[in-house]
Amino acid sequence: MFLTNTSPGLERAWYAVATHDEITDRPRSVQLLGRHWCVLRLDGRLTAFEDRCPHRLAPLSIGTNCGATLECRYHGWRFDQAGACTLIPSLGPDASIPPKADVAIPYGLVERYGLVWLAPAEPVCELPSFPEWEDPGYDTSRNEPREVACSAFQLTDNFLDATHLPTVHTQTFGVADAGYLPPHEVTTDGWRISTLYRVTYRNHDDPLVATGEHPLAQPQELYKEACPAATALIRLDMPLTGKRLAILFALQPQHDERSRVYKQMARNDFDGDEARMKESLVFEDLVMDEDLVVLEAYRELGIHLDVQAEVHTRTDKLSLAYRRLLGALVRGDTAFSLSPRS
Ligand code: FES
Ligand SMILES: [Fe+2]
Repeated sequence: MFLTNTSPGLERAWYAVATHDEITDRPRSVQLLGRHWCVLRLDGRLTAFEDRCPHRLAPLSIGTNCGATLECRYHGWRFDQAGACTLIPSLGPDASIPPKADVAIPYGLVERYGLVWLAPAEPVCELPSFPEWEDPGYDTSRNEPREVACSAFQLTDNFLDATHLPTVHTQTFGVADAGYLPPHEVTTDGWRISTLYRVTYRNHDDPLVATGEHPLAQPQELYKEACPAATALIRLDMPLTGKRLAILFALQPQHDERSRVYKQMARNDFDGDEARMKESLVFEDLVMDEDLVVLEAYRELGIHLDVQAEVHTRTDKLSLAYRRLLGALVRGDTAFSLSPRS
């Protein structure tokens, strides 16, 4: 199977659909897995409806926030936070409302890690644990969300991959002659998969590089974790400095040709220095540019779940596990395991 951003079976997962501040009391249309949702705050409470009025299918995102309800722009039907239709003006004040007049709402909608997450159907697992985001010992920041002509699953796979770093990230942190990747194993925890890579990166953020006390190319421990369907967490531990950079990548598969990328960062090596934080955001955008040179060049936007369709080596274990994870999700499995199925 070639999995695209709109393939069936992807609904049982959390997806980032906006940053926290993009959702206000004005309705906003977001697209996920090819379907449109209207997201807003009704009486301050985070709310989402299918962006299609059940009456004549007008987009609800052009409607009016009436406090506890949203009013459709076309004929004035109103919907409460649970999607129940509370008013059909043309029927008069005492009319009974047909149950079919209710609008669909997603299974789940939450705010976490500076993002708004939507689960169209009951998700197979919770959001990743990203304690650094809430830890006062860490500075947090985020790159502006980017809309890119890539598959959300190819992008997630790229974030999990460690062997492109010396060849793709030549202008930022990659070390050209550090291509060898020592053996590593993939661990599963329910629907989460993870591994620990031992890599060598250029550490531009270590002040002792300038004094000559530390080399620029430093050994680092890179923890990578993925959970369904398009979220990856990275923890980069730098043994020479004892510092950590943690990054949460969340992908919004919008439609078959487009994805939105969210990159939330928490780090404990800048001690609140805002200028350095700003510089690091520019740097992280350059890192993304390097990945996009490859990822936006693909002619087919998606990911092969048939593991025979690509060549996998022992250094692609996490990527292989990710394909299996997606396969289990879209098949409708109720549990995930990497061991061969009996
Ligand atoms: S289309 Fe929404 S009220 Fe008629
Ligand atoms: Fe990369």
